[in-house]
Amino acid sequence: MSSLVTSLATLSKNGSTGIIEINNPPVNASSQKVRQGMMECLRLVAEDKAITSVVLTCAGRTFMAGADISEFDLPELPRPDYNEVHAVMEALGKPIVAALFGTVLGGGLELSLSCQARVALASTKLGLPEVKLGLLPGSGGTQRLPRLIGLAPAIDFMTAGNPVSAAQALKMGFIDKVVDDGLLEQATAMAQALAEKQAAGEPLRVTSKLPIDKASGTPAFFEEYRNKQAPLAKGGSAARQIVRCVEAACEQSFEDGIIFERTAFIDRKNSADSRALRHLFFAEREATRIPGLAAGMELRPIRKVGVVGAGTMGGGIAMNFLNAGIPVTIIDLNQEALQRGLGIVRKNYEASAAKGRLTADQVTQRLGLFHGALDMAELGDCDLVIEAAFESLEIKKSVCKQLGAVCKPGAIIASNTSTLDIDLLAEVSGRPADFLGMHFFSPANVMRLLEVVRGAKTDPQVLATVMAIAKKIGKSAVVSGVCFGFIGNRMLEGYLREAELLLLEGASPAQIDGAIEAIGMAMGPHRMIDMAGVDVAAKVVIEQDKAGALPNDPSYRVVVRKLNELGRHGQKTSAGYYRYQGRTAIEDDAVWKVCEELAQKYGVKRRDNISDKEIVERCLYPLINEGARILEEGIAYRPGDVDVVWAQGYGFPAYKGGPMQWADEIGPAVICAALEGYGRQFGNAHGYWTPSPLLAKLATQHRHFSDLP
Ligand code: 3HC
Repeated sequence: MSSLVTSLATLSKNGSTGIIEINNPPVNASSQKVRQGMMECLRLVAEDKAITSVVLTCAGRTFMAGADISEFDLPELPRPDYNEVHAVMEALGKPIVAALFGTVLGGGLELSLSCQARVALASTKLGLPEVKLGLLPGSGGTQRLPRLIGLAPAIDFMTAGNPVSAAQALKMGFIDKVVDDGLLEQATAMAQALAEKQAAGEPLRVTSKLPIDKASGTPAFFEEYRNKQAPLAKGGSAARQIVRCVEAACEQSFEDGIIFERTAFIDRKNSADSRALRHLFFAEREATRIPGLAAGMELRPIRKVGVVGAGTMGGGIAMNFLNAGIPVTIIDLNQEALQRGLGIVRKNYEASAAKGRLTADQVTQRLGLFHGALDMAELGDCDLVIEAAFESLEIKKSVCKQLGAVCKPGAIIASNTSTLDIDLLAEVSGRPADFLGMHFFSPANVMRLLEVVRGAKTDPQVLATVMAIAKKIGKSAVVSGVCFGFIGNRMLEGYLREAELLLLEGASPAQIDGAIEAIGMAMGPHRMIDMAGVDVAAKVVIEQDKAGALPNDPSYRVVVRKLNELGRHGQKTSAGYYRYQGRTAIEDDAVWKVCEELAQKYGVKRRDNISDKEIVERCLYPLINEGARILEEGIAYRPGDVDVVWAQGYGFPAYKGGPMQWADEIGPAVICAALEGYGRQFGNAHGYWTPSPLLAKLATQHRHFSDLP
C-alpha cells in the first residue's frame, strides 16, 4: 500500500483502489483545508491510470459531520467551494464509494451523495440538519437528494433535519448497503465491482444526471409544502427556502439548480436567524468549559446516584440517570409519597413504551436500576446525591445537614433549589467543598437545561465531575454563581414585574402574552405562570417580601399575590390569569376587574394606548439589563451562557439566539436609550430603568456583548 499525503486529506492505494481519507479531528468538518486536500487527492487519482476506483472515508470517530460551521462567519466562503469538489468527483470518470460511519451530517452526507454508491456501518446516523442552524443543505443536497429518493421524502427529511439510522437510510434509498463490520473492505469490494462493470461498458451512475420527478412537482404540491412550514417570522425561512430549492430542481437544469441553491444558502448564512442559531450551537459547547479549570482533570467516579424527594421533580431527575444506565436510590420520608413517586416514574416509562420509544426490555432494565427507600442512611453508597425536597429553607437545611452526615467521603452533594442560597446550604451540610447546586427544570426528564451553581467553596473537581455527568445524561449545562434566582430566574424578575405593571396600566393578559409570543417566545408571561402555578410564583414573592428583599414599591407584583389569595392557582384550578376549558385559556373579566381594583388601590393610571412594541420593550429590555448585571458580577461567565439558559430553559426563540445575542442584533445603544426613555416616562424611583454599567459602557463605546473577552 503506498501513501501520498496532502494537508488534511490522504490518498493511499489498495491495489487498483485509491483510498481518500479525510483527517480533520474531532468531527472531520469540511474546512477550506479539507476541500483543498480533497481536490489534490482527486487530481492525483485522475492522473494515476493504475487507480480505477476510489473509496472515500475519514479518520477518527466519524465520517464528515458537515461543513465547518465557523467558516460561515467569514464574509466569503473560502475556495475551493464544496460544489467545485463535488463537480470534480462526478466528472472523475472512476467510481467512488463512500464508507460511512459515526454521524454523517450536512455537507458530509452531501459529499457522499456525489459518490456512485454509499455503504454504512449499521451504527451510523445520517442527516441533513442544516435547517436547525437556519440554513439549507448548501452543497447540492437540495438538488441531488430529490433525484435519489423522490421529492416528498427529500423535502420531509431536509425540513425536519433529524438524523436517521443506516437501516432507515437504506430503506429511504440514499445509501446502498449496511454492514456490521469490515466497512473499508466492503466499500473497496463495492468500488472494485463498480469499476469492473464500468470496464464492461456499463456507464457510471452520476447522481446529478439522474432524472427528477417533475410530474409530482406541481405548483400545488410545493405550495402545500411551503404552508406546512413555520411562518417566516417564526424561524420558518430556512424550511421554506428548502422547499423553494427543490422546486427549482424541478424547474431548472442541475447546474442552474445548484446556482439557485447557492444563492439561497448565502442568503440564509447571512441572515440574523442563522447567525443566532449558530451562536447557540457554539455557546452550548462553550458553556461546558470552565475558565481556570485544568483540562483533563481527574473526575470523581459517579456509579450510583441518590435523590431525596420522590415528587415530580425528584422522579424526573432520577429518570435522567436511569436512562443513562446509572442506578438511582430515591428517598422519601413518607411511604405513601415514595410509592406514588415510584409509580409515576413507572408510568412515564410505560407511556414511552406504548408510544414505541422504548422496548419492554428497556423499561424493565431501567426500572431494575431504580430503588426506593425511607431512610437517608440508604444513600451511604451513592457517589452523587441530589436533594429535591420541598422549596423551603428550613426543610432544605435539615436535608442538607443529614446528607452531610450520611454521604460517604468524596460523595458530591447537590441541591436542586431554584432560589435558595447555595453557600448557606453548603455550610449547613458541613462539606462545602463537595457541595453545589444542580437546578433542573420541570419536567426534569425532558427539559435540557441544567444550571450548575458553583458555591464559593465548591471544589473545582466537583464542578468538573458534575459538568461531565451532565453531558452523559444529555443535559445542556451552564455554570452560574450564587445569587437569588441564579441566571434564569433572576432575569425573570424584571420581566414579570413589568408584565404585571402593564396589567395594572390597562393591558390584558392576552394582549401581553400575544405581544411576547409574536416575537417567538414559546409562552407569554401569564400563560407561563398559569402553567407553573400562580401559587408557586406568588410564594417566591411572598418569601422575598418576608426576607425584606423586594423593592420599596407597594404595587410590586400585587396581581400574582391577589390571584393566589383568590385561589386562582392557574391551570390546575382552571383559573389564574385566564380561565381554562381543559387547557384552552380564555380571557376572564374577573381578572380584568381585579387589575382595575388594584390599579385604583395603588394609584396606577389606566390607559388604552399600550402598544405591542411597548409591551415587548418593557418586558424584555429589563431582562437584558439584568443579564448584563449578571455578566458584570461574574455570575455567568459569558453572554452565550445566559443565552443557552434562556433558549433551553425559558422558551426564548432559538432563532433569536437568546436575550444577549438578540440585544446585539438590536444594539446595546438602542436598548439603553429605550430604558432611559421609560425612566423619564414613568419615573425611576426604584431604579427599574437604570442601565447597568456594562450595558451603558457597551452603548457608549458602540460595542456588543459578543465583543466581550
Ligand atoms: N463545524 C465546526 N465545528 C464543529 C462541527 C461543524 N460542523 N461539528 C462539531 N464541531 C465541533 C464542536 O464545536 C466541538 O468543538 P469543541 O470541542 O471545540 O467545543 C467539537 O466539534 C465536538 O463536537 P460536540 O461536542 O458536539 O461532539 P459530540 O460528539 O457531542 O457531537 C456531532 C458530534 C453530532 C457531530 C455534533 O457536533 C453536531 O451535531 N455537529 C453539527 C452537525 C451539523 O450541523 N452539520 C451541518 C453543518 S452545516 C453544513 O454542513 C452546510 C452544508 O450544507 C454546506
